[in-house]
Amino acid sequence: MTNSSRHVPVLLEETIDLLKIKTGKKYIDATLGGGGHTKKILESGGLVLGIDRDPEALEKVKKDLSEYIKQKKLIVYRGSFENLDTIARENGFGEINGILFDLGMSSDQFESGRGFSFMKDEPLDMRMDPDLGVTAADLANALSQKELFGLFTKLAQVERAREIAGAIVKRRRLAPIKTTRELVKIMESVPVCRRQTNLHPATKVFMALRIAVNNELENLEKALPQACGLLEIGGRLAVISFHQGEDKIVKWFFRQRSVVIPAKEGIYLDRSQVKQFDSPMLTAEVSGMTEVNKEPIMASAKEVQFNPGSRSAKLRVAEKL
Ligand SMILES: C[S@@+](CC[C@H](N)C(=O)[O-])C[C@H]1O[C@@H](n2cnc3c(N)ncnc32)[C@H](O)[C@@H]1O
Repeated sequence: MTNSSRHVPVLLEETIDLLKIKTGKKYIDATLGGGGHTKKILESGGLVLGIDRDPEALEKVKKDLSEYIKQKKLIVYRGSFENLDTIARENGFGEINGILFDLGMSSDQFESGRGFSFMKDEPLDMRMDPDLGVTAADLANALSQKELFGLFTKLAQVERAREIAGAIVKRRRLAPIKTTRELVKIMESVPVCRRQTNLHPATKVFMALRIAVNNELENLEKALPQACGLLEIGGRLAVISFHQGEDKIVKWFFRQRSVVIPAKEGIYLDRSQVKQFDSPMLTAEVSGMTEVNKEPIMASAKEVQFNPGSRSAKLRVAEKL
């Protein structure tokens, strides 16, 4: 473990621009990681509550951004954003101007020795929070073939998921699967998995296990409504996602929140339609947010070249109404 974070923040300028940071106002970074986005918010004059579930990440940020902590401009908190509302209110961030979720994992976690990378030989763990009960090895050794198949297809659209699940079950009858290398070897033993594209066949299997171990999609679903509830009118919610499962949740959350429910029951219109009518009959009860960018913002070719991890990043931003 190095002392300082090596993570390069993705879509940094775009995210900070769209969050419209104001001096002295409060912001939550729900996925503090290496503190890259938080640092920029602080430099732009914001006050930050930074949350992460990974204690190693927090230790680094406490060192890297110690000056801001001393000046009481940054609070670093260990916890999961599934409990966002409670964490925010306990720390005096009950009404905020902006919140960021930069999902996925940091480069520091890839290098942490906790089994996130299929390129290394490490214990098959993948817990972002070491206090979580179930590791990736537990899942690989305990789930039935059908459950493994479901996990791989649902969480990461793994191709040949049936064959891979079958090979895992066959191999673990000999001895439990304990390491990343053992899992990669199992995949390499499935003929249809031999490498045909730039994407290593283990990429998606590792991703599916990581999402399951850390309950990533459920946590995001729980956190988004809480984030919306904490925002002041005009405050912004920015989410950077890295795969289809995450982006789908964010997209639908924003769409659903931007629907206006008119006084007359049974008619649902979005804000642009309501503007056209401009009728008092449509005394609308606005349920939440308007999307700032209808299409997600992606990293430029230059950023991808410099930071390949940004390749699949999608930034969506919405404003509280
Ligand atoms: C991509 S990194 C964030 C990088 C950060 N924006 C930066 O610029 O350095 C994602 C971080 O989110 C954290 N994380 C994932 N799920 C979380 C959760 N439910 N609650 C809190 N933190 C979480 C991970 O531990 C990881 O450190």
